[in-house]
Amino acid sequence: MSGSDSLLKPPCDFVKLPKTDLHVHLEGTLEPEMLFRLADRNHIPLPWKNPEMLREACRFRDLSAFLAIYYKGCEVLVTEQDFYDLARAYLERAAADGVFHTEFFFNPQVFCGKTISLSGILRAVFSAMDDMRDRISCLYLGTVMRTRPVEDALRTLDELAPWYDRIAAFGMGGAELGNPPLRFKRYFDACRERGFRICVHAGEEGPAEYVREALELRVDRIDHGNAAVHDPDLMRILAEKRIPLTMCPISNLRLNVVRDLAEHPLKRMLEHGLCVTINSDDPAYFLGYAGDNWSAVSRALGLTRSEILQLALNGVEASFLPEAQKRMWRDRIRTAL
Ligand code: ADE
Ligand code: ZN
Repeated sequence: MSGSDSLLKPPCDFVKLPKTDLHVHLEGTLEPEMLFRLADRNHIPLPWKNPEMLREACRFRDLSAFLAIYYKGCEVLVTEQDFYDLARAYLERAAADGVFHTEFFFNPQVFCGKTISLSGILRAVFSAMDDMRDRISCLYLGTVMRTRPVEDALRTLDELAPWYDRIAAFGMGGAELGNPPLRFKRYFDACRERGFRICVHAGEEGPAEYVREALELRVDRIDHGNAAVHDPDLMRILAEKRIPLTMCPISNLRLNVVRDLAEHPLKRMLEHGLCVTINSDDPAYFLGYAGDNWSAVSRALGLTRSEILQLALNGVEASFLPEAQKRMWRDRIRTAL
């Protein structure tokens, strides 16, 4: 059996598959054990007795129920060392999972006004990225909350100005329903005017119309985008323009965006020529990292060998890496498969 056959023969070893993780929130990589360790270190009270109880609480009705726990978890991140430990642990885990390139969101709004300065937080996060440079390629994506006024997003964009050379793109997340992308047009226009690529969470719990609004904003990629599957004309546009969708199957299952992974739209979209990719979102809370997402979705949807190759190549196409690096990674994926 050749190397590539053993890699893709069921049950596939997706740890060995060279992968990207382009939609992951650093705050969502906070594993329960680390969360408790940091709470102890910083004397922060928690509503759970131990990590097991927190894991038990990770059965979410919907996105809002998840975000309540996610923001509670953020409270334990207090010192520079905490942010370094968090970023370092995620990067080590992703590298061990066969992720060669990751692009993670981190939202400074959550931590502004607390004891630590923005420069302290970013120094820690960028140090972890630098220390892991030889083991994993990594880009930082700034992001803001769509539940806050657009003026807050614009302020955050300004506050991040000293670190623009280390930011690959800007995005937006948070509770989607009732907070359509176009409400943030001023923010996204400002990001583009300053030379950044832009992405937005759309069509996760929100309707296909929100994905259309994202296109109106001229986004470079869409985070999730599931609802587009209900709009054939929108699917055609996404396929023609090759606007990537960073899909997160296990997240969708845990947040009841899909009832069953067998119903996940990823394969249908791939068949329609969309640039869909597989990502982890908030792996510590959804109990699944990139490799777990690949295994679960491949099993549930019966992905073929050529679909797996296409998905891996889509990850490179959808990334914000320079073209020369994209070429190198494409060659490496083809060699590995
Ligand atoms: N922030 C962290 N995870 C998110 C998700 N799945 N959707 C929207 N905002 C988020
Ligand atoms: Zn997300």
